[in-house]
Amino acid sequence: MPRLITLSRAARLVGVKRGALQSKIQQGELRTFEGELLLSDLLHAYPQTRIEDTTMLERVEQIMEQAVNKVIRPDEDTPDSNTLAARILVLSQELAQTRQKARRHAELIDMLKLKFEELAADAGQTRDTAFSTLQAWFNQTLAAVEASDDDTEIIAKEAFLRVMAAQVRILPSGHEFLIEGSDSILEAGLRSGLALDYGCSNGNCGKCKAKVVSGQVKLVAPHDFVLSETEKGLGYILACCNTAVTDIVLEAEEAFDSHDIQRQKIEVRVKKMERPNDQVLVLHAKTPRTNRLRFLAGQYLSLQLDDLPPQDCSIASCPCDDMNLQFHIPVVAGNPFVEALLDPEKSTARLCIEGPQGDFTLNEDSPRSLVFIAVDTGFGPVKSLIEHAMALDSAENIYLYRISTAGNSLYLGNLCRSWVDALDNFRCTTFEATASDSVESLLPRIMADLDDVDELDFYACVPAELLDPVESYLTGHGVTAAQLRLEALRQNMSAQ
Ligand code: FES
Repeated sequence: MPRLITLSRAARLVGVKRGALQSKIQQGELRTFEGELLLSDLLHAYPQTRIEDTTMLERVEQIMEQAVNKVIRPDEDTPDSNTLAARILVLSQELAQTRQKARRHAELIDMLKLKFEELAADAGQTRDTAFSTLQAWFNQTLAAVEASDDDTEIIAKEAFLRVMAAQVRILPSGHEFLIEGSDSILEAGLRSGLALDYGCSNGNCGKCKAKVVSGQVKLVAPHDFVLSETEKGLGYILACCNTAVTDIVLEAEEAFDSHDIQRQKIEVRVKKMERPNDQVLVLHAKTPRTNRLRFLAGQYLSLQLDDLPPQDCSIASCPCDDMNLQFHIPVVAGNPFVEALLDPEKSTARLCIEGPQGDFTLNEDSPRSLVFIAVDTGFGPVKSLIEHAMALDSAENIYLYRISTAGNSLYLGNLCRSWVDALDNFRCTTFEATASDSVESLLPRIMADLDDVDELDFYACVPAELLDPVESYLTGHGVTAAQLRLEALRQNMSAQ
């Protein structure tokens, strides 16, 4: 029977993005059967796939360290994680060889049945001739079947992957993600870029309640929130306190746009401040463990420090890390908010955040590649969007254009270089706008650098006065309204 595999697992198996597989599907190079791929098609499309893939083995070591040792009681005499990983590999290979043999023999039996019918219908043959014909045919067919494509390696790797990572499919969206070790379903979902509904993350509020449609889950943390007997009978669980033992299908609430997320007010702790250059302050804040911020990448918050007037500021971090928030704040002399932040006596300040707000969010339904244009600290929300796109792992290509204006210089360049090094679908280009080379005058260079505008979505965060010129230039060059999202710099802090 042909073996099918989900898109997420296939991407992991051959080490490519989901977007790359989706593009092969669109081009007709891979067939899908109810959203799944044939394992044999995958092997033909990626013939270099090998079980010895070291990244997978390294990952296994990490997972074993983090998870298996926690699950097994310390007084049990168990093999170490490397030994377990090696044994799983051996078992996977044996399983794959056995499966392949069974499949070949099943094919042979089907062919044999047909051959018998064919010979029985041939009245002209004597019993001896029929036997000799059958014997010759059998020997030849057996040799051909045994010499057929050897796919044991990929089957072994897929079986191995099944042990190491269970797959979660969310209904009704159809979103999928893999869950490793003893991560909770909520943790793994957020890390994969999904905006699942939740509140406390520790079993108190019940907001992450979800219904298991199929598969097996396991409690990984106790919870105080009480599920009624009826709810338990219907399969309801708390996603923050359970992990998946087998592949599961779950009915769960997700946020799809900014209206699906409630406004929150949280007192956070200023954890760290960095000055990558004289013009920018990178503020790291931490929420309480039991009151994390739920937001969509690209949104902004109102920040209030002591009695100072609140300041709108875009979030520069990924919603997949909901406790650790980052903000890129322009250093403007005379701005009381900035001066208070830079005051060493207030370095342990408590900050009140309120939000989130804003619609500068990723269009997750779009299959197009992503283009980001960030002017100065517009890199903040753009960074949040890029990190979210990386967590989703669905964009085929990501292009970042960073522009610094007069009096400003680019910051966090190392971060961008690390993305370029780590991702083969990411490109970063930088520009310096000057009095004679304005931001608008750089747009033709950006467009000349890009192919096929129809296949791209544009996200630009620029100073408010440039919103109209940027929009009219891009729409005048073939970018439709559906392909364009614009945001004014929120960190427009003036001296007061
Ligand atoms: S998020 Fe509050 S109980 Fe799970």
